[in-house]
Amino acid sequence: MNLTDYNNTYSNLVTFLPNKTIPIHRWYPLVEGYSSELVKSIIEEQEIRPQVCFDPFGGIGTTALTCYDMGIECISIEASPFFFDVANVKTNYTNLSSASFQTLTRRIELELHNSKSGIKHPKLESRTFFEDSGSQKTKWIFHQSVSNGIFDIVRSIDRVCRDEFLPYKKIFIISLATILQEVSNVFKNGKCLSYKKNWKTKKYKRKEVHNFFLKHVKEVILEDINSMQPQPKDFYRPNNVIFGDSREKVREIREGIDIVITSPPYLNSRDYTDIYRLELWMLGYISTYEKERNIRKSALTSHVQIQLPKVDYPPIEELVNAVNFLESDKAELWNPNIPNMVRGYFNDIQNLLSDLRPKLNPNAKLYINVSNSAYSNYIIEVDVIIAKAAELIGYECEEIRIARPIKTSSQQAKKMSIDKMRESVIVLKKI
Ligand SMILES: C[S@@+](CC[C@H](N)C(=O)[O-])C[C@H]1O[C@@H](n2cnc3c(N)ncnc32)[C@H](O)[C@@H]1O
Repeated sequence: MNLTDYNNTYSNLVTFLPNKTIPIHRWYPLVEGYSSELVKSIIEEQEIRPQVCFDPFGGIGTTALTCYDMGIECISIEASPFFFDVANVKTNYTNLSSASFQTLTRRIELELHNSKSGIKHPKLESRTFFEDSGSQKTKWIFHQSVSNGIFDIVRSIDRVCRDEFLPYKKIFIISLATILQEVSNVFKNGKCLSYKKNWKTKKYKRKEVHNFFLKHVKEVILEDINSMQPQPKDFYRPNNVIFGDSREKVREIREGIDIVITSPPYLNSRDYTDIYRLELWMLGYISTYEKERNIRKSALTSHVQIQLPKVDYPPIEELVNAVNFLESDKAELWNPNIPNMVRGYFNDIQNLLSDLRPKLNPNAKLYINVSNSAYSNYIIEVDVIIAKAAELIGYECEEIRIARPIKTSSQQAKKMSIDKMRESVIVLKKI
């Protein structure tokens, strides 16, 4: 495998950080996202400008929005209903009127100003969200004043964004999403949610919650909408964000794709449904465990929160060794599902690449941002394994661009990790 050092150019670009100051991209930050600049630099290095791009793991739409702004058609697929909404809203920003948004903001502000003391909370099957003074619970995610503030906002959005203003509703909901962690008693610790140290004493007032929300609406969203250039009459940039599981939906997309730029979930047992619980449960996407389970199941095999079948996997030496080790007595695993997750991860990715191949134009290029992982101190070279799995089914790996080293929490893995614990971009070509 041709491993090339891209640390100087890519180390920052494979993170979401640069997007935090770019209009529209900054509407909702996603730790697991990459930067618009990464997408742009990949498109600009192509000898022939691509016409159609595809991202099977669209997230909050970084690839789609960057393509949109470059006048390139992009098809993307996203399995989380919340991320799907964020991507959709952002890639439709040119349809928004700044005057309408301003009027709606003023009306919502007025509604919030007149908020009454009692506010109904939705019925959620999960009991962890609300402080309930009558129960024996010792922990809750939102203090009463905060959940009141949140549902004041939800109600105001519902009342104001009706009829012709319905398309604006989701933007306000996404603004609310950006403040949920700040006003809650928990934080995203990388794998799930943990309670903040001072959560019992730190209580935001209802009005403070309103103000956080209005600040984001005015200082981020409204500012970006106001600064938009008027579009010419014939402005048309096709964009297609599809909701669902790309392992299935990929078979339905159209042919003629020139380039794929994507970042699948990493093989790091992160369950997005867990990490984004606040957004999913509080904003009406999930109210029952069954619904949560269904969203979990639609994710690429990359976490151990559901029972996983023992599937076959691509016959790559590095993968065979890894699976043999993980299934042996030598491996000390924190979850017995890990070997099946590793099998399933590479099986899913190889199947996806196989289903995608007929949709690609000859010589189409694929850029896949991934990270290596370690379990029981055994480092799994995800980039090399994916590249080799792709080579078995009609792709050539041109290079693996090493973007940056990544940290490992285990001491022993640290010793072994020289060069191997890395985040990278795999460059494939259809042959
Ligand atoms: C690393 S993130 C991609 C972030 C994206 N590059 C961005 O900057 O917004 C991976 C995304 O894949 C999504 N995902 C996981 N499994 C999926 C599946 N089977 N089909 C479609 N999307 C999936 C996750 O919900 C998550 O949004």
